[in-house]
Amino acid sequence: MTTLVPRDIADDEWRDVPLLTATSFGSTWHPETFAAWRTAMPPRSSVVVVDDGDLVGQAHYLDFELTVPGGAVLPTAGITWVGVAPTHRRRGLLRAMYTDLHDRFAENGYPLAALTATEGGIYGRFGYGPATVDTEFSLDRRFARFHRDAPDPGGVRIVRPREHRDDLAAIYDRYRRITPGGLARPTPLWDDLLADWEDSRGGGTPWFCFLHDDGYLLYRLFRGSSRTVRVEEFTAVTPEAHAALWRALIGLDLVETITVTSHPGDPLPYLLDDPRLVRTTGSEDGLWLRLMDVPAALTARTYAADLDTVLDVGDGFRSDGGRFALSIRSGRAECTPTDAPAEFTLGLDVLGSLYLGGHSAALMAAANRIRGGDVTRLDAAFRSDVPARLGFHF
Ligand SMILES: CC(C)(COP(=O)(O)OP(=O)(O)OC[C@H]1O[C@@H](n2cnc3c(N)ncnc32)[C@H](O)[C@@H]1OP(=O)(O)O)[C@@H](O)C(=O)NCCC(=O)NCCS
Repeated sequence: MTTLVPRDIADDEWRDVPLLTATSFGSTWHPETFAAWRTAMPPRSSVVVVDDGDLVGQAHYLDFELTVPGGAVLPTAGITWVGVAPTHRRRGLLRAMYTDLHDRFAENGYPLAALTATEGGIYGRFGYGPATVDTEFSLDRRFARFHRDAPDPGGVRIVRPREHRDDLAAIYDRYRRITPGGLARPTPLWDDLLADWEDSRGGGTPWFCFLHDDGYLLYRLFRGSSRTVRVEEFTAVTPEAHAALWRALIGLDLVETITVTSHPGDPLPYLLDDPRLVRTTGSEDGLWLRLMDVPAALTARTYAADLDTVLDVGDGFRSDGGRFALSIRSGRAECTPTDAPAEFTLGLDVLGSLYLGGHSAALMAAANRIRGGDVTRLDAAFRSDVPARLGFHF
C-alpha cells in the first residue's frame, strides 16, 4: 500500500493535469476544455498525489445540481478526471484520494455523489451503483417508414449551433429539470461543447444541429464504408419534439445508419412501421450514484406507492449506511435512523441503483443483492414515471 498522501492541488500543478489525464484516458483534451470545466469546480475540489515532484494521481469534483424523481434538484458532487499514473497503479492511490474527497463531500453537506465510469468493476466497493442506463440504438434509415399514427408536427430548423447557444441551453434546462439524472449545465460547458474542438470530433464532421421549440439535436456525419450519422446529443422536452426531430433525421436521404445514445424508455421503435429496424447495439451504465446522506436523499424524491419498511443499508467504504425506517404516504417519504429489525438488507450501491427508478429491486433480489421481504413493494414505490437518464457525461 502507498505511503504517498493525497493533498490539495497547488496552482502550479495544474499544468501537469492535462498530461496525466491524457496518459490515464488515452485521449487528449483541448486546453480550453480544462479551463471551462474548472469553472464548475468549487474551492478545494481537487486532490492530487505527487511523487518526487511528479503528478501521479488526481481526482476532482464538480459542483452539480441533479434532478431526482418528482423534480427536486439536489446538490451533487460529480467526480471527474480521476487518474493514477500507470507507474503507480494498484498501490491504493485511488482509495486514498477517494477517502479524502468523500470526507470533503460530507463536510460540505452533499446528499449525493455521482460519477461516470470508465470501467464497471471499480466503484461498487465505494458505495456507487449504476443509476441510469445508456442505451445505444442503431437505425437503418433507408428502410425506416413512420407509423400512420406517428405525429408529424414539423417545426424543425437547421441552424448553426453556436448562434443558438441560449436556445439550446434553455431547452436543455427545461429537459433536465423534469428528468431524473438530469444535470444543470453551466454556460462555460455549453461554450466548450459548441466550440467543437477538432480533437473532440473523433473523425466526424463539425456539429450539425436541428432545432425545434421544444427540442434539439447535435450530430456528426462519418464518411466510412457507409455514411453514418452519430447523434451525440438528443434532447426533447415533449413527445412532439421527439417525433419532429426523428422525422428530420430520417429525412437525411444520403445517410445509411443513424446511431444515438438514449435510454431504455425511448419511444422511437413505436414511431416506426417496423420497430425491428431500431436495433439496440449497446446497453451500459450511465450515471453512478452514491447516497452520502440516506435520509436527505430518500426524502427528496417522490414515490409511486405507499410503503412502510426498514432498510439495512451496508456501506463498506464509509459509515453513511445504517438502519433506516422508511415511511411513504401519497408520494412523500419520511426516513429516520432506527433500531427496529430490518425488512430488507442491501448495499448502499444497490440503493444508488434503485434511487432514480432506473433499476429493478426484483432483479436485484434475484441476484441476492437485496435480501428480505416482498421486493415488489420496493419496485412499486421506487418506480419513476419519467425514465431516468444521465444529463451529460462528465
Ligand atoms: C482506475 C484507476 C484510477 C485505479 O487507481 P489505483 O490507484 O490503481 O487504484 P487503487 O490501488 O487505489 O485500488 C482501489 C480499489 O479498486 C480496485 N481497482 C482498481 N482499479 C480497478 C479496475 N480497473 N477494475 C477493478 N477494480 C479495480 C483495487 O483492486 C482496489 O480494491 P480494494 O481497495 O477493494 O482492495 C487507475 O487504474 C487509472 O487511472 N485508470 C485509467 C483511468 C481511469 O479509468 N480512471 C477512472 C475514471 S472513472
